[in-house]
Amino acid sequence: MDIDNRLELVKTFCGLEKDEINLLKEEGIPLEDADRLIENVIGKMEIPLGIAVNFLINGKEVLIPMAIEETSVVAAASNAAKIARVKGGFFTQSTDPVMIGQIQLTGVKDPYNAKMTILSQKERFLEIANEKDPILVKFGGGARDIEVRIIDTPVGKMVITHLLVDCRDAMGANAVNTMAETIAPLIESITGGKVYLRIISNLATKRIARARAIFSKDALGGEEVVEGILQAYAFAFGDPFRATTHNKGIMNGIIAVALATGNDTRALEAGAHSYACITGKYLPLTTWERNEDGDLVGTIELPLAVGIVGGATRAHPVARTSLKILEIKTANELAEIMAAVGLAQNLAALRALATEGIQKGHMSLHAKNIAIMAGAKGDLIDKIAEIMVKEKKIRIDRAEELMKEFS
Ligand code: MEV
Repeated sequence: MDIDNRLELVKTFCGLEKDEINLLKEEGIPLEDADRLIENVIGKMEIPLGIAVNFLINGKEVLIPMAIEETSVVAAASNAAKIARVKGGFFTQSTDPVMIGQIQLTGVKDPYNAKMTILSQKERFLEIANEKDPILVKFGGGARDIEVRIIDTPVGKMVITHLLVDCRDAMGANAVNTMAETIAPLIESITGGKVYLRIISNLATKRIARARAIFSKDALGGEEVVEGILQAYAFAFGDPFRATTHNKGIMNGIIAVALATGNDTRALEAGAHSYACITGKYLPLTTWERNEDGDLVGTIELPLAVGIVGGATRAHPVARTSLKILEIKTANELAEIMAAVGLAQNLAALRALATEGIQKGHMSLHAKNIAIMAGAKGDLIDKIAEIMVKEKKIRIDRAEELMKEFS
């Protein structure tokens, strides 16, 4: 399909309005809105927005907006989702959207006693925290619990209070940080210690999303392919050098959806990689097994602190449109979709790596980029790319030569 046909399809699928289509095609975020999002704005940095197709998630058809500069990612996700459909697509779940706010207490002589003192005042802390955010409470969220940990540091023991806040459809950093700042003076006054940091933790272990899918061995290309993927997974399990790249591939998908929906990609990356080594060993975020039919079963589990209200998710018009395309109503639904995309992305990468290698598929797309770098426009991009792929010479000097030939 060309761009207009794709837009028409998306429009029919989720009822995009004319101004939303113009926004996607031409306008993007207005400069004055960009100027309000960050400081010292001088322009906009645009990234392509593509749609991954074939996703069946919990029995529902979903179109996935992905903002990413890397070739093959959208195609790979769509391809894996197509294979997953054979066995019913992706099935997902998630915990309540609970974030952790940390309050660092120092200078107490009796940290274990301080812990008990803080815990004994739990109800008071929750009440004071919730008074700060009546809107969140009205929507069913709010401070839920308190946990206290004693940690060893280079300057001695510290008492770390975790305020657990159900953030509902917000990512939650603002709500959690405000609540943490609010209860900090009370922690000081009842313990006699000194509080320094009061800040959200991006290791969102209480806000977990999971997805699962079965990939039929026949649709994957046979038993050998299943075996290859299991070997690739075992490699990642046993080696952090490989596990990092394995997880990078997963985050290709997750971050592309996060960016498309205006979410904080750095928070997600930090949380995901930290969760990957929560056992003390850096592990893959997915698991792969063979079931009794010989099909491949994949699962993924990771913290996904995403929002659909507040911040750039609402302030950026393209992010708003992406959320509309996804047809979701809660932040949990978004997190679950992202988990499914991460699993699909991982399957696609492992399948390619365990069979023909990653370069073949990459190269024809890469060739188009090289042709563009050499100055090609329109049909000439495809023509030059095709010749370079055929000649197996995907290089800028060859692209420039071909440019000269055709002009
Ligand atoms: C490239 O962006 C991602 C891969 O390296 C992931 C992987 O190796 O699993 C292909």
